[in-house]
Amino acid sequence: MSDLLERLREETRSLHEQTEHLLYTESLRGGTLSVDEYVHLLLIHGAFHQALERAIDSQATFFQAYTPDIRRKTPWLLADLAQVNQAIPSLPGLFTNWLPAELVGAAYVGEGSMLGGKTVWHYLQQSPVLQPLLGQARFYRGYGADTGPNWRAFGAFVTNQPTTDSNAIIDGARRAFLLYGDLFERTRRSLIIP
Ligand code: HEM
Repeated sequence: MSDLLERLREETRSLHEQTEHLLYTESLRGGTLSVDEYVHLLLIHGAFHQALERAIDSQATFFQAYTPDIRRKTPWLLADLAQVNQAIPSLPGLFTNWLPAELVGAAYVGEGSMLGGKTVWHYLQQSPVLQPLLGQARFYRGYGADTGPNWRAFGAFVTNQPTTDSNAIIDGARRAFLLYGDLFERTRRSLIIP
């Protein structure tokens, strides 16, 4: 593993744990995740990925080797939210003025979340109330058989970045994890809790 990938993993390890904990891991693991909590997770990921994909698209040349088209998760999230009559909330200011190198760090968080997604998909099956929604669910199925190849190709993209950008990439990853905390609160307002 390259030094930068190693640093990314080490220097965001506690933020990963913190984010996992924040995103209903206890109820997820216990098979008690409610429909509202599941929808809340889709709203959080929807806001994150839609804004990140737009920011990356606005730096198309820089991100050519990232192959954005095979990594789009917004259509999956829109479809999953449509099932429950919800849309991705439009939240201003996400990733505004982030440098391309900082966006690479955010992409690390977005792509890495696809690795954990496999485990999450397994846990979702344990919640009986979610079963009617999971038949057509798309986001948490992730990349399926392409998970490994997509992650390795992303690793090569990260490794090819100039070493002068390493600190900005790590800073971007840290800020992207923290953004999840912010989005947790901001998307809650879009949820209609009976
Ligand atoms: C309950 C939720 C989650 C679980 C159980 C989980 C679990 C995991 C697991 C098992 C891995 C290692 C996979 C492997 O090495 O093949 C992983 C990696 C990763 N996950 Fe999560 N994850 C969760 C949520 C998230 C979320 C919400 C994010 C982003 C916001 C995230 C970001 C990452 C990243 C960036 C990596 C890559 C670490 C590295 O190897 O550099 N995870 N996760």
